[in-house]
Amino acid sequence: MALSGEAVFHARGLTKVYWQGNVKVHALRGIDMDLVDGELVVMLGASGSGKSTLLNILGGLDVPTSGEVTYRDIDIAGADDRELTRYRRNHVGFVFQFYNLIPSLTARENVAAVTEIAHNPMTPEAALDLVGLTPRMDHFPAQLSGGEQQRVAIARAIAKRPDVLLCDEPTGALDSATGVLVLAALDTVNRETGTTTVIITHNASIGQMADRVITLSDGTISGEHRNPARHDPRGLSW
Ligand SMILES: Nc1ncnc2c1ncn2[C@@H]1O[C@H](COP(=O)(O)OP(=O)(O)OP(=O)(O)O)[C@@H](O)[C@H]1O
Ligand SMILES: [Mg+2]
Repeated sequence: MALSGEAVFHARGLTKVYWQGNVKVHALRGIDMDLVDGELVVMLGASGSGKSTLLNILGGLDVPTSGEVTYRDIDIAGADDRELTRYRRNHVGFVFQFYNLIPSLTARENVAAVTEIAHNPMTPEAALDLVGLTPRMDHFPAQLSGGEQQRVAIARAIAKRPDVLLCDEPTGALDSATGVLVLAALDTVNRETGTTTVIITHNASIGQMADRVITLSDGTISGEHRNPARHDPRGLSW
């Protein structure tokens, strides 16, 4: 996927303070970051460094305490609840560590539950094909492995053709061999649909599949590098 070079997300001076009782927690301490259209970014950092907080703000699930964050012409930091809901619905796909599939629906029906209410979605079959699950479409979640369930969750997230796919530890509950299949599905989706993708992980070797790796420490960006060439995640092990 050739990157257009156009920055679609801009974050400037982003801070987030949580209160735990009387104690102030500085989850983000001034983040400046851009995301380029179509790129795949891996975000690394120790537990508590602010990765999920940053991802949730980019996805409109949480709001910053101060600072600016925009997606194209949408002011995310200044949006009210209704505007954030619309932003999430129209632009954002999420993948979390636990797949949150509906147990009583097949893979195809889990994806269809989203495509039925989306504007211009893919078919559930096309989305499941992208993640390599055509042979498993009519299985229920309990009949699928963890990695297969996560690939259904990815198909569900991308079937509405989001502009950005935000993944918080998508392989966190999987063994290495299964995790590789999930990362391969994310790599394929990013290359074939051009969806700007962010993957949070604790595993530094996963950074090799990214266009760019961003490292967070204690609420700030402490490192960033661009990979000259992305590695196919199928060659990764950890
Ligand atoms: N809703 C909340 N209320 C209070 N404190 C919070 C909340 N969410 C996060 N925090 C705190 O903010 C800091 C950053 O948390 P965050 O979840 O962003 O870290 P993380 O890098 O995703 O960590 P992990 O790798 O463990 O998921 C932590 O100190 C955390 O305890
Ligand atoms: Mg987290």
